[in-house]
Amino acid sequence: MRSMSDDHTHVQEFFTARAADWDSKFPDDGPVYAAAVAELGLREGARVLDAGCGTGRALPPLRAAVGPSGVVLGADLTPAMLEAAVRAGRDADGQLLLADVAALPLRADSLDAVFAAGLIAHLPHPAENLRELARVVRPGGTLALFHPIGRAALAARQGRQITPEDLRAEPNLRPLLAGSGWRMTSYVDEDDRFLALASRDS
Ligand SMILES: C[S@@+](CC[C@H](N)C(=O)[O-])C[C@H]1O[C@@H](n2cnc3c(N)ncnc32)[C@H](O)[C@@H]1O
Repeated sequence: MRSMSDDHTHVQEFFTARAADWDSKFPDDGPVYAAAVAELGLREGARVLDAGCGTGRALPPLRAAVGPSGVVLGADLTPAMLEAAVRAGRDADGQLLLADVAALPLRADSLDAVFAAGLIAHLPHPAENLRELARVVRPGGTLALFHPIGRAALAARQGRQITPEDLRAEPNLRPLLAGSGWRMTSYVDEDDRFLALASRDS
């Protein structure tokens, strides 16, 4: 059985190798990130976490949404991704945390929303990890699970088939969220985006 630290090592190795080129590989994604952030419906002054923020591509639209009085945090467990975020100046838009979403250094109910792009497929224990995200969000707060391309397009890019076991398939994701403190409120899986929104149980 793999231990937590094995899981971390694998994720960190995978993303450390890709950190320096991450943004240049996907140069045109800005507008789809901004559109996904808009669907969170954040208000001025809101507190939001970008979970698995990587190079911080979502931090500028998140800051624009909550304004200067809001709180924007970006958490990631791969130092090289956070270093790339700093090189890109994204730490100006949010506070970066070297942290595992399995154990966030945040108080219960302290956030209004969590945005997570490209994260869930990398989580070794998705139900527990989604529950930890629910812990830090206030009742009625929002979760966005986003990917800038849909499941079919991503599978094709990676040269694999989508299987019925795919975590992000709607029949799997809905009960996974429901068992982790979230109620799925919308689900879109199109070629040019995947976006599942959920509301934190009261
Ligand atoms: C596919 S990348 C997406 C990065 C960024 N959200 C984006 O959209 O460009 C996934 C990121 O999640 C991070 N990650 C994976 N598992 C994590 C965990 N348990 N806790 C925190 N970050 C994690 C990885 O280090 C990586 O930076």
